[in-house]
Amino acid sequence: MKNIVVLSGDGIGPEICTEAVKVLSAASKKHGFELNFIYKDFGGCAIDHYGTPFPFDTRSAVGKADAVLLGAVGGPAWDKCAKRPESGLLELRSSLGAYANLRPARIYKALEDSSPLKREICQGTDILMVRELTGGIYFGKRGTSESGDRAFDTEEYSGAEIERIARVAFEQARSRRRRLCSVDKANILDSSKLWRRCVEALAKQYPDVEVTHMYVDNAAMQLVRCPSQFDVILCSNMFGDILSDEASMICGSIGTMPSASIGGKAGIFEPIHGSAPDIAGQNAADPIGAVLSGAMLLRSLGYDAAAQDIERAVELTLNDGIFTRDLSPVCVTCSEMGDAIAARL
Ligand code: IPM
Ligand code: MN
Repeated sequence: MKNIVVLSGDGIGPEICTEAVKVLSAASKKHGFELNFIYKDFGGCAIDHYGTPFPFDTRSAVGKADAVLLGAVGGPAWDKCAKRPESGLLELRSSLGAYANLRPARIYKALEDSSPLKREICQGTDILMVRELTGGIYFGKRGTSESGDRAFDTEEYSGAEIERIARVAFEQARSRRRRLCSVDKANILDSSKLWRRCVEALAKQYPDVEVTHMYVDNAAMQLVRCPSQFDVILCSNMFGDILSDEASMICGSIGTMPSASIGGKAGIFEPIHGSAPDIAGQNAADPIGAVLSGAMLLRSLGYDAAAQDIERAVELTLNDGIFTRDLSPVCVTCSEMGDAIAARL
């Protein structure tokens, strides 16, 4: 039996996690293994109950978990808190040592008309974004002057941090189309110059992988000009945050995009979107990002067949023209989408 800690979080988080758990439970029943779901407060709801986004009880549960399934955190209700829900998310990633964030962005045939890009441009998009997750400007020194009219954040990386994330990207490229594009701003930033040097050094150990380097501004442009040129994209924490949102939209909707944050103890599996407070509580969210994160979770535990089954069920559902509101004005609810996917397992 595997212990899955579920951190539903805020906004649409609980709605999408309910559907992900529904699909995971159906998959585990079909494939004959047992999952034990343990629910804990995290993010804004934890601030409300405990005064902190990542309370001790949650911390000790994830410390013992086999994997963490996460919904979303944050919302206007907590924007003025000294410690915002998002800081809990950074602490969670850091405390589990989850330095490698994998964000696949693959377009489904059924969603080619939902992409804002022309069909001939979005067709064939199949990118794996490998985002560094526990370093860079998210974790560097920051501060605000006493007067409040001056502030700074720091982008800092060590060679070791760059090498370990680059290694993940090279290994992933090996299991895919063997092409790696490393994104940086090496025409300006020292941290990017080091990034490029480290990636070039490691490339010698992967002569079978074709490596290119791209400035982040160009990468943002190339993604919408010709997304099919990319296989694996390697990014720092912040560049990966920004480019993965861009890549998600090419595939139709950010609502369908999963992620896996690995490298340490338990992996964290979460959709890449936010808590969408504007549609929370309406049963209107797209649960596919959470469901596919669940598939990535199963794969990380060695349940490959069940993971593949979930991915197939999602594709079948979309092929049957079943969409949530982010994808079509003629739509089903969040829970109906979960039912539809579970029924196709
Ligand atoms: C993401 C989110 C988070 C991030 C926020 C909520 C802190 O945007 O997972 O992409 O920036 O990493
Ligand atoms: Mn983001």
